[in-house]
Amino acid sequence: MKTIKSPDEMQRVALDLKRAGKTIGFVPTMGFLHEGHLSLMKLARTRCDVLVVSIFVNPTQFGPAEDLDAYPRDFERDEFLCAQQGVDLIFYPEPGAMYSADSSVWVDEEALSGVLCGASRPGHFRGVCTVVAKLFNLVQPDLAVFGEKDAQQLRVIERMVRDLNFPVEIVRGPIVREPDGLAMSSRNKYLSEEQRRHALCLRRSLDLITSSVSKGTRNVSSLRKSMVDLIGEIPGAEIDYIEFVADDSLKPVLEVADRTLVALAVKFGKTRLIDNTVLVV
Ligand code: PAF
Repeated sequence: MKTIKSPDEMQRVALDLKRAGKTIGFVPTMGFLHEGHLSLMKLARTRCDVLVVSIFVNPTQFGPAEDLDAYPRDFERDEFLCAQQGVDLIFYPEPGAMYSADSSVWVDEEALSGVLCGASRPGHFRGVCTVVAKLFNLVQPDLAVFGEKDAQQLRVIERMVRDLNFPVEIVRGPIVREPDGLAMSSRNKYLSEEQRRHALCLRRSLDLITSSVSKGTRNVSSLRKSMVDLIGEIPGAEIDYIEFVADDSLKPVLEVADRTLVALAVKFGKTRLIDNTVLVV
């Protein structure tokens, strides 16, 4: 396994690999890897000759009041975990190498980015799309794997790839959960023991409505209310949003239909956690 820090070198190596007829699989990450990331690597590993993982805490997707500086980092541990997954190349650029001081071109997705996380994190998806477009140009992947936990990110990236004709297959990686149901996230590390217990309310509220839907309930306001009631009982849990939207357009729905996406974000102190499920009826 090799680590490349320079964007130019990454692109040169990737183009050489393509010329040699190799397929490149790619898992973009912000590091501090957990089982969720490793599952994306496992998925990519089975489908490519060369597996590239990027580790880059992308400053442009963080708002001014967000956790960019505090975002957890541990490159040595990440390197070890990547080696265990059979990663061939780690791309680990310095922030200064990825963005020129006078960068002035951005990728802005305009239909799906304004709702859910985009409503509470203005500019977030512009930062995500821009860095992912840059990473695709540098890594030249045939396929890239994104986790379903970040449901909106996945759909925004799929839209970017479709609308800008990136020759990259986007592969969806299922959510990986702790044994008690909490979706894996690098941000779980911020939770106190008590908040960690309380954080189970995200998954519980999704289970609750999944069960109501399986028994025939379709009315979104009553389903949403049962989630609000469940989470409202948890001390310190502050709902950022709970939304029922159409899976493809992310437009709100009033009645649950097949493939309604239910997504929520809940804050525990400064830590904001997200989770989601797609309802099948
Ligand atoms: O999901 C993430 O970790 C990031 O948003 C990504 C896709 C690596 C872009 O910085």
